[in-house]
Amino acid sequence: ATQPTREDRFSFGLWTVGWRAQDPFGDATRPVLDPAEAVHKLSELGAWGITLHDDDLIPFGTEGGERDKRISLFREAIDQTGLTVPMVTTNLFTHPVFKDGGFTSNDRGVRRYALRKVLRNLDLAAEFGAKTFVMWGGREGSETDAAKDVRFALDRYREAIDTVAQYSEDKGYGIRFALEPKPNEPRGDILLPTIGHALAFISTLEHHELVGVNPEVGHEQMAGLNFVHGISQALWQKKLFHIDLNGQHGTRFDQDLIFGHGDLLSAFFLVDLLENGGYDGPRHFDYKPLRTEDGAGVWSSAAANMSTYLLLKERAAAYRADPEVQEALLAAKVAELGESTLAAGETTEAFLADKSAFEDYDVDAAGSQGYGFVHLSQLALEHVLGAR
Ligand code: GCO
Ligand code: MN
Ligand code: MN
Ligand code: MN
Repeated sequence: ATQPTREDRFSFGLWTVGWRAQDPFGDATRPVLDPAEAVHKLSELGAWGITLHDDDLIPFGTEGGERDKRISLFREAIDQTGLTVPMVTTNLFTHPVFKDGGFTSNDRGVRRYALRKVLRNLDLAAEFGAKTFVMWGGREGSETDAAKDVRFALDRYREAIDTVAQYSEDKGYGIRFALEPKPNEPRGDILLPTIGHALAFISTLEHHELVGVNPEVGHEQMAGLNFVHGISQALWQKKLFHIDLNGQHGTRFDQDLIFGHGDLLSAFFLVDLLENGGYDGPRHFDYKPLRTEDGAGVWSSAAANMSTYLLLKERAAAYRADPEVQEALLAAKVAELGESTLAAGETTEAFLADKSAFEDYDVDAAGSQGYGFVHLSQLALEHVLGAR
């Protein structure tokens, strides 16, 4: 059951398995990975999709025949394996031109260049049949509050996204957009730092219906936030268009660990939520194989992401099916929260007249009841550990 199949809809960024492991302190420890090889290897491992930035496939500045050749070699590998390209994204962060951002650089020429790069990449996304276009604004931000008028920056961010969405509509691409929040790194502070900021921003867009979020496990955890809560709200607002699964140990640099190799209990409840909460998008891994690994380690880490997800999915199903858990859920009144607080048709007047709700309510009894959350939580932990 931990052997992935296409039905599991697992996808990987080309930049994940292809990461050469250069970091701010050290050189690359692995050779360049041929994109076609990534497609074949991922397909053999049971993945369903591969995603990419423009520059992962076509190094920045590569034009003309060489650009076409790289696209067609990738296309060939896709066709040979039957892998899909469910999502495409644009790199607006590596080249020095983007050092003050793309859509929100103070320099208007840079902003126009960034927008053109994205529009061209959207054509490529459509060509590959991608359904989702992710926008991670890693360089949109600042290190000093002296340098950026954030209100202007948000105006330009909105202008850019509405322009891209309008272009997509004009072309009939039918693509949806997903903004990826991150609090910091590489910028000292990144705009739209959390799921909540992104959702609020999206509501101001002209094309808000086409735009959702692509939250990453580690990014919310870098900000000390509860990822399961964030995903719950994104689902509740029907804005979970895509997801980046990985692992992270608390508030520190972006670790991009294998899924489940950070906060395992949170990963368990996340899988339970994704499987039972109405998310039908790709299960996309955005992780980095450890810098210590060689080629074999890269592929075993890719496999580890998928088997961890499937193990947790199995554990979540067992948890839900356990009669003791069902009893504990009942005792904890978890489902009771699904009942509306006012009765159907109850007017405020009738509510105010209900003495049992206030005047006669036994606050001491209610205040002394136990909810049994510890018992429930321990049952979950025992299921995660395979002890049940
Ligand atoms: C990061 C981001 C990126 C994005 C990717 C897709 O490096 O912190 O997670 O990996 O997910 O650029 O837009
Ligand atoms: Mn990350
Ligand atoms: Mn990501
Ligand atoms: Mn990443």
